[in-house]
Amino acid sequence: MTQDELKLAVAKAAIAYVPNDCIVGVGTGSTANFFIDELGKIKHKIRGAVASSEASAKRLQGHGIEVISLNDAGELPVYVDGADEITRNMHMTKGGGGALTREKIVAAASKKFICLCDASKLVDVLGKFPLPVEVIPMARSYVARELVRLGGQPQLRTGFTTDNGNLILDVHGLSILNPVELETAINHLPGVVTNGLFARRPADVLLLGTAEGVQTLT
Ligand code: 5RP
Repeated sequence: MTQDELKLAVAKAAIAYVPNDCIVGVGTGSTANFFIDELGKIKHKIRGAVASSEASAKRLQGHGIEVISLNDAGELPVYVDGADEITRNMHMTKGGGGALTREKIVAAASKKFICLCDASKLVDVLGKFPLPVEVIPMARSYVARELVRLGGQPQLRTGFTTDNGNLILDVHGLSILNPVELETAINHLPGVVTNGLFARRPADVLLLGTAEGVQTLT
């Protein structure tokens, strides 16, 4: 099976987690796009969606799904999104698409996080995928120096601005043995908006696309 076929398989499986008549939290990226397309097929069963990026909002609207602001939606029953890496204890690295801050907000406001991944993303230790950190532009250089002190090699994502008007530093060379502690430490640096570690609020369910079918990990 191709990676896209695995992504489609997990996206289809995720529909079972969407309650009738609800507002769904929707992630960002190629896997989330497959989920949005599946959601389009059951749009009459849901009230609408909260999007974690402008790109996802546009795709949802393209399917005729109402995009509702998080402030008007209240707590969401479910948030569905992909990840760049995930461990068996559901800690993730996210933000490859640069939407990490809004993703973390919508995930935090949701009762259940359903993570959709193909098998290549399941790892023992996070860090091979560079850790994205969203920074306020004036803090870029300061935060980069602090990230070096934490053991990483930050690289500015060139030609990229987040939906919030900020920059992304992609931190290479980390072997993240304590994701909760590192997430907290990086978020405490002045100028950091958030970082792509989702460990303090891990996923609740992982739908893993494998050649043998979709595996459900909880
Ligand atoms: C975007 C994300 C995505 O969920 C992550 O990058 C995975 O993307 P894809 O499904 O395209 O592999 O965090 O900010």
